[in-house]
Amino acid sequence: MTKRIDLRSDTVTQPTQAMREAMAHAEVGDDVYGEDPTVRRLEERTAEVLGKEAALFVTSGTQGNQVAIAAHVHGGDEVIAEAESHIFYYEAAAVAAIAGAQIRQVPGVRGVLSGADVRAAIREEPNPHHPHTALISLENTHNRAGGTVWPLHALAEVQAVGRAAGVPVHMDGARLFNAAVALGVAPRDIAQYVDTVQVCLSKGLCAPVGSVLAGSRAFIERARVWRKRLGGGMRQAGVIAAPGLVALETMVDRLAEDHANARWFAEAVAELPGMDVDLETVQTNIVIVDVAGTGLTANAFVNRLGEAGVLCSAFGPTRVRFVTHHDVDRADVEAAFAAVAGLLQGAHA
Ligand SMILES: Cc1ncc(COP(=O)(O)O)c(C=O)c1O
Repeated sequence: MTKRIDLRSDTVTQPTQAMREAMAHAEVGDDVYGEDPTVRRLEERTAEVLGKEAALFVTSGTQGNQVAIAAHVHGGDEVIAEAESHIFYYEAAAVAAIAGAQIRQVPGVRGVLSGADVRAAIREEPNPHHPHTALISLENTHNRAGGTVWPLHALAEVQAVGRAAGVPVHMDGARLFNAAVALGVAPRDIAQYVDTVQVCLSKGLCAPVGSVLAGSRAFIERARVWRKRLGGGMRQAGVIAAPGLVALETMVDRLAEDHANARWFAEAVAELPGMDVDLETVQTNIVIVDVAGTGLTANAFVNRLGEAGVLCSAFGPTRVRFVTHHDVDRADVEAAFAAVAGLLQGAHA
């Protein structure tokens, strides 16, 4: 049987051997009592890497974002976010359901908002018709835009606008480490522009589970209450924090390989008939292809490619997403490219 090449997401990775060993030997305690030394180490280390005072281990990126938003806003407030952001698109309306706030969708350019866009979206107050703008939330890298990276000057602009208006800034940094590697900067050089940030350990970094939310000490204490409220208070969680530490310490630099593989794949696929790739968006490990020119819908394309052993995701009626990660190498992306080329030959035959 030929190997299945899974390019659906960077969440499909297996934990490494080092992670499994770290899990087996993790020192644990009851984390709801604050007694799990491994969780504390992960939180302290992540806070340090992100240049923040404190951090909180959470179950998922969604929980990290939603705990953060709930700790920042009140019911009836408004959260500014890029129109196609994960918190709007893919978190089951949690901002409405949990924090009781609404999202103001602001269209960006390749996922990036300008300071002027954000300024214009902040509500004038006092005005009894308006919700209070309580938070600006940015996504870096931006998933639906194709893994695009926020330039540091754009972050600085939004930070300045937020500060001038007294509105805090949160970053959904599910793939912040990819952004840091793409820019060649330290994670804290990105996180310095936001008040709070959520990073995922279970995406490109390969940990089996978990995210970390970082911010000021006072904010993290408020977030801890929301995490408990949402059922995220975990007990001997050191067994899952331990692989997170391995992820943080050993899996960041290698993301450059995933980026190079994505770039190779994007450039190769862009040469094929009917495949439309905006190469400017291919900045990290995500490649989005519009397959409209092949005459296939995204679902039909995904199904046919799946039959050839290559998995990818439909990302709209004609858009398809491919994501590179630790468990696919250059030979795999070359094989995936060959499968796409073969599929198109079949489609045009
Ligand atoms: C940009 C972004 N934010 C948040 C999340 C949510 O992470 P999780 O699946 O761990 O809840 C994802 C997941 O893919 C994501 O891509």
